[in-house]
Amino acid sequence: MPITLTPFGNSFAAEITGINIQRGITSEQFSQIHKAFLKHKILVFRKQPLNDEAHQNFGTLFGELDGHINKSTRHKQLPSVQIFSNVKANGETTGIHPEKGTQVWHTDKSYTATPSLTTILRSPEIAKIGGDTLFANMTSAYETLPNEVKTTIQSLFAVHDWARSREKSNERPATPEELRAAPPVQHPIVRTHPETGQKALYIGNHSSHIVDMERSEGEAMLADLEAHATRPDLIYRHKWQVDDVLMWDNRCTMHCVEPYDAAKEKRSVHRVVVKGDSPY
Ligand code: OGA
Ligand code: MN
Repeated sequence: MPITLTPFGNSFAAEITGINIQRGITSEQFSQIHKAFLKHKILVFRKQPLNDEAHQNFGTLFGELDGHINKSTRHKQLPSVQIFSNVKANGETTGIHPEKGTQVWHTDKSYTATPSLTTILRSPEIAKIGGDTLFANMTSAYETLPNEVKTTIQSLFAVHDWARSREKSNERPATPEELRAAPPVQHPIVRTHPETGQKALYIGNHSSHIVDMERSEGEAMLADLEAHATRPDLIYRHKWQVDDVLMWDNRCTMHCVEPYDAAKEKRSVHRVVVKGDSPY
């Protein structure tokens, strides 16, 4: 089956066909997927009814897997697989969103020294209303900044902090174990992509303030940059179908999930994260 690529608006995100992930990926297919991933930042594979082992094996092709800091949503047998679901074993809804931190703009695991390269998410169960996932193109966000802003932020670092991020998204406080596992880290606000060399804004909900800047001033600057980055023309909205597989480049995108009614709608996504390098 030949591989085809159909880009969405602005070439930000593309649908890729001709791949059967469950069956396994050849090295030739892998190099085509990798090239498309770097070009489009988000790849959508439709109609991929995977099991968790195949999902995990697919992730391993891109690098070392990284389990989620929140152990309560880890797959019991496969700890590299995370399940965000509001559906109980008896089929009823829990009424609670599984992770409210995903509802605000963020880039995965930026609160660690080596944040995620890619997240690969699949959708066994989707919400009928709400639950779209939105993505912001952080390369375009950087490129469309006024030159004086680019100059101002060029050498700034932000503090990324799991505990503060939980507070901002109204989630339960970080546990003592999580605090030990994820002390605050610093990353450049302008990140150079290690594979394409392109500059991107690197911010989001895990970033709390700016190093060597008055706290409220840094918070305001981060909020302004986020408002710029999430302008409608820089966004891709993913409308889920059952058994989509979506992979995104966390080094040059942000994402968030739109709220849905966690009592009425059933939504389950399974997730594998590949560890990246230290941002520079
Ligand atoms: C994630 C995430 C959003 C979603 O898995 O990192 O933010 O659509 N998920 O569930
Ligand atoms: Mn996320």
